[in-house]
Amino acid sequence: MSGMHIGFDLSFTHTEGAWARPGSWVGLDFPDVRMFMELARTAERAGVGLLFFGDGSGIPSTWRGGIEPAVEWGIQWPRHDMAPVIAAMATVTERIGFGLTYSSTFMHPFYVARLLNSLDHVTGGRIAFNVVASTRGADAANYGFGELMDHDLRYERMEEFVEVCRALWDSVAPDAIVRDRETGRFADPAKVHPIDHKGRFFDVKGPLASVPGPQIHPLIVQAGNSPRGIAASARFADLIFGFGGNLASQQRHRRLLDEALLAERRDPADTGILWATQVIVGRTAAEARARRDEVHAFWNEETVAIHLSHNMGYDLSTLPESFRLGELRDELLAANASPAGLVGSLVAEFGEESTMSRDEFFDHGRGRATGLDHSIVGDAESVADALQENFAATGSRGGYMLSSPLAMPSGLADISELLLPELRRRGALAAPVAGATLRENLAV
Ligand SMILES: Cc1cc2nc3c(=O)[nH]c(=O)nc-3n(C[C@H](O)[C@H](O)[C@H](O)COP(=O)(O)O)c2cc1C
Repeated sequence: MSGMHIGFDLSFTHTEGAWARPGSWVGLDFPDVRMFMELARTAERAGVGLLFFGDGSGIPSTWRGGIEPAVEWGIQWPRHDMAPVIAAMATVTERIGFGLTYSSTFMHPFYVARLLNSLDHVTGGRIAFNVVASTRGADAANYGFGELMDHDLRYERMEEFVEVCRALWDSVAPDAIVRDRETGRFADPAKVHPIDHKGRFFDVKGPLASVPGPQIHPLIVQAGNSPRGIAASARFADLIFGFGGNLASQQRHRRLLDEALLAERRDPADTGILWATQVIVGRTAAEARARRDEVHAFWNEETVAIHLSHNMGYDLSTLPESFRLGELRDELLAANASPAGLVGSLVAEFGEESTMSRDEFFDHGRGRATGLDHSIVGDAESVADALQENFAATGSRGGYMLSSPLAMPSGLADISELLLPELRRRGALAAPVAGATLRENLAV
């Protein structure tokens, strides 16, 4: 069993006011590629194993039914396709891996398999594919869908999507490429095959017109949290992302995943979960708390409401002055919105009969939108203690997808200069090896 693997989430380094906070870049603005090249070098030096970009293509538009508030305050926008940025980051690093997200609900597997194969070459075998089912109407509308496909159907499509990608990556055998300079013979046609896939969602002839990449199959990551999402993870994912910050639900996720892996005849000991965990580290606990307060100060009621409405798929501007929690949950279900996050946890904490005012609701929501209700805030010793304890209590397989709500580059600098040296000193980290593929480096 290896130590903790550490990933770092670069999805929101320039949104939600982070671009303007103390410690932000001076003279560089998103999407300047040099910012990301510098972050990649810093993270690799510190021993981070994976840099991750999540994705969603829609601008939040649920709150008050329009994009204007999200555009005005930079809430979850702008978001670019980060594939070319990863190519640039790979040229200035040697070991660190890169995770990229595409939606199996909206994209086509031939395009994604081909792109990831190219990225596997450019990165020297350091690419991971986070495949997501997508949950937001704003994304669906960009791809010609009036509304989001049913939840479980999205996972059926995801399973077929990954099956097609894998078949395409196998459609050219690694030893098919001959490159015989004497005769000019390039490849052995007996080792290059169409896939002739005809399925419920996709018809793909194949083969991929590509040279196999160093990993052949880029590492596949999946973060489903529902029973159907976990079943999909067990079926095909090499690595799992989970929501950190709540031990009981992490243990539940680990248990359900292990059962699902066994049902697929896979060994649960071989499959790690990286827990998404927001940390704020300071030289002292007081410094860390002051940084947390800076984050808090950005979020007014409207920015909180934009964020929550987008993630729930429900326009919270329609909330009455006071309401019963169970009533709101039922209303979300009836609107095909997601009660899983904030509303679900408020019902669990206070009970469905309990009444809440609109202001109280947004107060709770602020902790959720900022992630501060589940963040680990403190000096390096106390944050390292918390991570080690949580790692042991969740099966000691995988590690953390850390994130910081602070400005970049200072948020990553704190983690690199304070937290990771402390974890290394304790012998808690798994070390990535130069020359190995990401698949080899992230094995548990
Ligand atoms: C670390 C982490 C990263 C995620 N990244 C994305 C993302 O980039 N885009 C996205 O649409 N969903 C993302 N998700 C959400 C999951 O893909 C999934 O929708 C969520 O866990 C709910 O699971 P369910 O569909 O099984 O209910 C992420 C989840 C986690 C834990």
